Amino acid sequence: MRGYLVAGNWKMNGSFDANRALVAGIVGGAPADVDVQLLVCPPFPYISSVGKLIEGSPVQLGAQNVSEHSSGAFTGETAGSMLRDVGCDFVIVGHSERRAIMGETSSIVADKFKAALSAGLKPILCVGETLEQRESGQTKAVIDEQLTAVLDAVGIDGFEDAVIAYEPVWAIGTGVTASPEQAQEVHRHIRELLESRDAGVAEKIKILYGGSVKGDNAAGLFSNPDIDGGLIGGASLKSDDFLAIAEAATSLC
Ligand code: 13P
Repeated sequence: MRGYLVAGNWKMNGSFDANRALVAGIVGGAPADVDVQLLVCPPFPYISSVGKLIEGSPVQLGAQNVSEHSSGAFTGETAGSMLRDVGCDFVIVGHSERRAIMGETSSIVADKFKAALSAGLKPILCVGETLEQRESGQTKAVIDEQLTAVLDAVGIDGFEDAVIAYEPVWAIGTGVTASPEQAQEVHRHIRELLESRDAGVAEKIKILYGGSVKGDNAAGLFSNPDIDGGLIGGASLKSDDFLAIAEAATSLC
């Protein structure tokens, strides 16, 4: 039993007031089931304060990005050691918004993944195809390229404590979710690719689905054998919506 991880990627949303209300709701309703882990990833300025708000609760803390460098003259960047210092256990790397908007290549993503590991963070590696790539039959080739770039950089052992998130770009923030069958097919493919390097790591790793996950579609997705939770954007900003997704996971345990 791998258990479920329900992770909230708040993206560039929040304020002290909004975060207080959101976290109070999440902490108050967090499932007691140890097989359903909750994680919140606030924007950088709020990580410390959200860390204090979740103290003593089972909710975990993560960041949305990390520098590939460990320290030095990199204005505006944040090192993995700093994220550990402020209490992060996880960090998202290679989100499609960073790949598309900030120009992060698979090689940069691999460097960030490596930097996260060196700092003792658990990377959540995002992979996923655009609509154009899906429609032209390139989905698996895109996933292979994104995943192999990191596998070649850190080896399969680097995935021991990592998480993978399959986030089809066409499903992010659109209200269009991949069907459970579409998602399962790609998740299975990801696990098989890992299996070809190490069956133990492949069996153990959590593969999350992300892209318009809501309370009413979460159970259909999470009930598939290779879907181990979700990386949630919009629905992570309201505690009731986020908890409804966590409850869907709990109902499957
Ligand atoms: P939405 O849940 O808003 O579609 O966002 C998904 C996402 O990008 C999480 O990282």
